[in-house]
Amino acid sequence: MQPGPIATRVSPSPTAELEGTVEALIAKGVDVCRLGLGEPDIATPDHVREAGIRAIREGFSQYTSTAGIIALRQAAADRLRADIGVSYAAQEIVMTVGGKQAIFNALAALCGQGDEVIIPIPHWVSFPEQVRLVGGMPVFVQGDPARGYRVSAAEIERHVTPRTRVLVLNTPNNPSGAVYGKAELAAIAELCATHDIWVISDEVYRAFTYTPAGHVSIASCAGMRERSVVVDAVSKTYGMTGWRIGYSAAPIAVTRAMTAVQSHVTSNPTSIAQRAALAALSGPQEWIAGVREDYARRRAELFAGVRDLPGLECEIPDGSFFLWVDASWWLGRELAGRPITTIEDFASALLEQARVAVMPGTGFGSPSHLRMSFAAPVPELREGLTRMRAFLGATAAVA
Ligand SMILES: Cc1ncc(COP(=O)(O)O)c(C=O)c1O
Repeated sequence: MQPGPIATRVSPSPTAELEGTVEALIAKGVDVCRLGLGEPDIATPDHVREAGIRAIREGFSQYTSTAGIIALRQAAADRLRADIGVSYAAQEIVMTVGGKQAIFNALAALCGQGDEVIIPIPHWVSFPEQVRLVGGMPVFVQGDPARGYRVSAAEIERHVTPRTRVLVLNTPNNPSGAVYGKAELAAIAELCATHDIWVISDEVYRAFTYTPAGHVSIASCAGMRERSVVVDAVSKTYGMTGWRIGYSAAPIAVTRAMTAVQSHVTSNPTSIAQRAALAALSGPQEWIAGVREDYARRRAELFAGVRDLPGLECEIPDGSFFLWVDASWWLGRELAGRPITTIEDFASALLEQARVAVMPGTGFGSPSHLRMSFAAPVPELREGLTRMRAFLGATAAVA
């Protein structure tokens, strides 16, 4: 079978592929430290699980309306008002199959054939591929490591053309951990108003922000509520990656278009998962601060450990649960007798010989970086560091 033109336009998700490789190794009995995946080690809270179980027992197992049950849409709107200070009506919320589908819906609703979508580098792996899937053209803006990989309004403006339609902003950023401040966002907002650009603001990591100022949404900047699609999900915040619930918040015309797209692709997200998400979004939130503090400690520990590894450089991230590690020193060298030509060679050597899984940066827009996660349990983090120290230290001494 020859794949069709849309299928050949995109490459498979490298993060999903790594997950498959690691799972296969673990199934074979290999003990792997998993520092590569974008998943917190938080268990879904009991009251959320109970809500899911109750939904099953009550037989809440029919279709819901495409955009989700109204109580959940209202709970999402209430959460956004409390967390980012922007008011939405329940009718402006669409519940989706994870944040991933909300981003796809938004691109499908906003982007015409050949329209340009600006994406700062480094970026989450799916942004450019989703742009290509809807017939748009990704246009990349390189983030400056000296500024924590945040791109400025001036840098974005240099890439604006008459075809520019959307800017994808992801704060806190996966993989760099960059967190945008209010003044930077206000400048970007002004640029978007000047050039009539929409923003898809992916805020799925906003619970994991470690700066004193905390998370700021561009939708809270003057004039931006009317040209933004805010994307959030219960996946990372509540340890619910497998439940597959995300949502978008946007003005009503775009919300209608996104709902129409979704109505022909998946219909509603799972009814039972919606009831669990309702418990997550409307239930107690105080415990999340404890998780954030715990992750801040792990961030410090992984950062200190990786900074001491030979040939690896990184800065402490302001948000998310990733360390974005420059491994360019290793490219062109040898690791345990193997030539390291690409970052994939380096990651494979770590996985196969040190049994530590990390994610090559290529799919995130940088073939000289690695992404490491500190959302792994502390013993696994420490063991991962010990193994990397033993493996890379011994090799670097020879190199
Ligand atoms: C930046 C970013 N946006 C969106 C998503 C999608 O999350 P979900 O699992 O809710 O689809 C992810 C997941 O890894 C992500 O890293």
